[in-house]
Amino acid sequence: MGNVENVAVIGAGKWGKYLVRNFSEILGQSNVTVCDSDQEHLEEVKRDYKEICTSRSCDEVIDDESIPATVIATPGATHFELTERALRAGKHVLVERPLTQKVSDAVKLVELARDRDTTLMVDHLLEYHSAVEVLREKIDSGELGDIYYVHGQRLDLEDVETEEDILWSLGSQEVSLMLYLVDKEPKEVTAHGGRYLERDEGKEDTVFLTVEFEDGVKAHSHLSWLDPHKTRRMTVVGSKKMATFDDMESRNKLWIFDKGAEKSGEGGFNVRYGDVHIPNVSLEEPMKKMCRHFLESFENGTEPRSDGEDGLEVLKVLDAARRSLKNGGKPTIVMNVEVE
Ligand SMILES: NC(=O)c1ccc[n+]([C@@H]2O[C@H](COP(=O)([O-])OP(=O)(O)OC[C@H]3O[C@@H](n4cnc5c(N)ncnc54)[C@H](O)[C@@H]3O)[C@@H](O)[C@H]2O)c1
Repeated sequence: MGNVENVAVIGAGKWGKYLVRNFSEILGQSNVTVCDSDQEHLEEVKRDYKEICTSRSCDEVIDDESIPATVIATPGATHFELTERALRAGKHVLVERPLTQKVSDAVKLVELARDRDTTLMVDHLLEYHSAVEVLREKIDSGELGDIYYVHGQRLDLEDVETEEDILWSLGSQEVSLMLYLVDKEPKEVTAHGGRYLERDEGKEDTVFLTVEFEDGVKAHSHLSWLDPHKTRRMTVVGSKKMATFDDMESRNKLWIFDKGAEKSGEGGFNVRYGDVHIPNVSLEEPMKKMCRHFLESFENGTEPRSDGEDGLEVLKVLDAARRSLKNGGKPTIVMNVEVE
């Protein structure tokens, strides 16, 4: 696969700038090319990073054979077209979430990456969060017992996006997290929502989402741009222990509760109140870990954790949620699609 020498970041808006910073720190500024159709955004990048190369043309960057990898951080509606072009040009691609707008397009990209033997990775950032990695290890080791359900809240009163709806925005991050932690097949989705801010049809600002997984595991999530408390929390309830990942905490982001309830012999319930453990997890920036993982994946020829198939799985759940919303909250089967 060869050594990674440079990458191009296409899209240097609010989110792309973080990617530009991280790749510059890892590879050095002179090994990062930034492409944005907006000249002002390029000038801002140039002000902060004097040695970075810039371009206004994504064709120029995609056709440049000296650049092996492309990071796509443009708005969601452009992900499919740009990713397809980059993969056809033989580039390894890290694309922002969600992978595409349509499940069928995501399938095409996964197949294309496979045919071309290139890496396709999606920015499901939370899968690279150290607290989430530790939590997943604890689930896998059986410390929490059988997982009964997970419950997440992703709430805000800022950053209401005009282009995306909340499912595609906060929802894609939330669904990637729940799929990563539960690690079972999602079967059915129910979603209720509201457009209290009178946004366009299909652009909810609040959604209540329930996902039914195989083996009866459930996940519930409250997504909202209309809540007084900025919240980024997910609780996992198992038969032995419970755990909370709270990304708004500055230091103690993961809490393991040795608590539970079980039936007593006399027909009642015994509730157990044990210790609370706060593992010491690394505070390394999740995006830095994710960027490094992308580079290592194509250098070593290994599948990234959040590969194209992971992006497709997230999209299948979001798609079922969107269909459920359209049908007034009707339980909706997650599409079963084949990747050839
Ligand atoms: N992973 C996360 O947690 C996370 C968080 C926020 C945003 N995002 C995703 O990041 C992406 C970008 O979001 P944003 O908030 O930075 O948007 P933004 O509108 O601030 O930035 C997008 C940039 O892309 C540029 N652009 C658009 N089309 C282009 C093209 N064809 N060629 C070159 N440049 C082009 C625009 O000029 C703009 O500078 C979205 O897909 C969004 O969903 C991900």
